[in-house]
Amino acid sequence: MPKESDLTIDAQTIVNQILPHRLPAQESAEAFAPANIALCKYWGKRNEALKLPLTGSLSVSLGQLGTRMRISLDDRDRLSINGTPQLAESNAYKRLFAFLDLFRVSGTAFRVESHNSIPMAAGLASSASAFAATVNTLNQLYGWDLGDSQRSILSRLGSGSASRSICPGFVEWQAGERPDGMDSTAVALESVWPEFRVGILTLSAAEKPVGSSEGMQRTLETSMLFQSWPNQVAKDLPVIREAVLQKDFKSLGPAAEQNAMAMHATMIAAWPPIIYWQPESVATLRRVHGLRADGVEVFATMDAGPNVKLLFEAKTENDLRQAFPDLKVISPFAD
Ligand code: PMV
Repeated sequence: MPKESDLTIDAQTIVNQILPHRLPAQESAEAFAPANIALCKYWGKRNEALKLPLTGSLSVSLGQLGTRMRISLDDRDRLSINGTPQLAESNAYKRLFAFLDLFRVSGTAFRVESHNSIPMAAGLASSASAFAATVNTLNQLYGWDLGDSQRSILSRLGSGSASRSICPGFVEWQAGERPDGMDSTAVALESVWPEFRVGILTLSAAEKPVGSSEGMQRTLETSMLFQSWPNQVAKDLPVIREAVLQKDFKSLGPAAEQNAMAMHATMIAAWPPIIYWQPESVATLRRVHGLRADGVEVFATMDAGPNVKLLFEAKTENDLRQAFPDLKVISPFAD
């Protein structure tokens, strides 16, 4: 049986399908997309070109924390991030303009001004908010008037987890089954949970040694433990979805932490091993376990980087601020 990745559907075909008629652009437009933290992780693609996932995943968007972007028509391509011009040789520039190539009408050049309220490439999902913000801004610039699922599909072509940054609140990215990925989109979950908190501990803002795309691919190809990953998600995703809908932190916390640890276990068993953890990460996980043993309800999650994110409810916030003076507390449901 041919692998899906062998099929010839490419990102441009999907863009042309969603945007059959190209409209003239305005001079300039601006939009925002939130960062997101996965509670049930996405790790592993069934199709590289379209960034189609092997499993579903579920995240919480981080409210006002994310990427605000302005895109203007210009005589040549330019990118600035937080006010600093980026060289054409930089990874951020190359990745963004390769993505924008999918949407260019001949002869168009773009000036992109991106403002992130999160450290870049430190496993805090800045690429997710950046690609989702790009699509949201293009949607304004060209007046496409696309709905959530179409913007989610387009964002996914930039970065898988960007598909979830289209919606606020809790978001499920349904894996879908179609080879063209038209059913692989984010869906907002009907759950408003004002007491839910995410705490960010930036242990290291250094660039990660292995990017998530390469990391996923290596895990899939070389880690025997990866065979168990779809089963882990099949167990965790319904529990996490239900916990979010019921606002049941006692079910959510353990499932989310175990899901993150299981994802990292698959990477550690890859060859060469992928170990995003730093000594500070392990020390922080141990403190979280210690706090739990003392009755503080806090759980941890980690992505493709050394930083640890804490999951808790408002009633625990003071205890955690005391335990971690540098903790940045995010209320995903605050205005
Ligand atoms: O979207 P990518 O390629 O940056 O992958 C994100 C992978 C994780 O952050 C580790 C997990 C997730 O679901 O966000």
